[in-house]
Amino acid sequence: MNTSNGQSHPEYRHLLGIEGMTATEITALLDLGDRYLQHYRDDAQIPKVLKDRTQINLFFEDSTRTRTSFELAGKRLGLNVINMSVASSSIKKGETLIDTAMTLNAMRPSALVVRHNASGAAALLSQKVSCSVINAGDGSHEHPTQALLDALTIRRRKGRIEGLRVAICGDILHSRVARSNIHLLNTMGSRVRLVAPPTLMPPFIENLGVDVHHDMREGIKDVDIVMMLRLQKERMQGAFVPSTREYFRYYGLDADKLAHAKPDALIMHPGPMNRGVEIDTVIADDIDRSAIQEQVEAGVAIRMACLDALCTGSLENTA
Ligand code: NCD
Repeated sequence: MNTSNGQSHPEYRHLLGIEGMTATEITALLDLGDRYLQHYRDDAQIPKVLKDRTQINLFFEDSTRTRTSFELAGKRLGLNVINMSVASSSIKKGETLIDTAMTLNAMRPSALVVRHNASGAAALLSQKVSCSVINAGDGSHEHPTQALLDALTIRRRKGRIEGLRVAICGDILHSRVARSNIHLLNTMGSRVRLVAPPTLMPPFIENLGVDVHHDMREGIKDVDIVMMLRLQKERMQGAFVPSTREYFRYYGLDADKLAHAKPDALIMHPGPMNRGVEIDTVIADDIDRSAIQEQVEAGVAIRMACLDALCTGSLENTA
């Protein structure tokens, strides 16, 4: 099936968010990601299943890990990867997002990887182009590949996702990572707790089937996974916390608070980390407890899985 000519069902052509995905579809992507990760660790030959196709990365927001790992993922699969630098593109001359996407689409790429500060930007583009669109983060809405790489990391470390207690802590209000993880973890049968000060907790979020905590020690009591989030100052207008020092005191992950989680609780963070703001530096670097570097490694593998599944149409077969 050739996705670049639009034959594939739109539902399986794009990855716009985790919301609405089934456990079977998520598991298929995790299984494929797991295979790619193992291949890579074994130094095995990776088949160039997308050889001579084109992937365009269109990033309107800053990124280190996500953009680099999408680039590496595409190259490992044989794709020609083009990074559009928004700073030197016609967007600076006033071209709209849709005009830019239509122009790129006319060059017949197989995949367009988009990061934008507006929620819904990737979904909007997907209606205008004939290639696969992958959402690499849209405002505070979703960041589906981050949730998938987090799930792969959890599954490899804990052997399962179902039945685990997971606390997501910090700036939930502005976090697309939190939203995608809530959808994924709920779908896969984890029990999700959110921990944040009232100013950083979205109203009515408990309607998503999560427990809400404002006290960090209570929130992480007996959890299997502690997932920390960055204070997203670039999305804040005004002061959401009195000071970063006070924030660390009440909501920063340190040894004292971590002692309330299970003794083998895994520490995660999507990066970039603000050491001493949301996480103590010693804890972040504790190789026995912290899975932060493994998350980065899983990121390349999961993005290979997503590019492969969407561009070859294999996800459709899992439905
Ligand atoms: C996250 C993002 O961009 O939403 N980072 C990432 O993709 N690794 C989280 C963040 O920026 O804090």
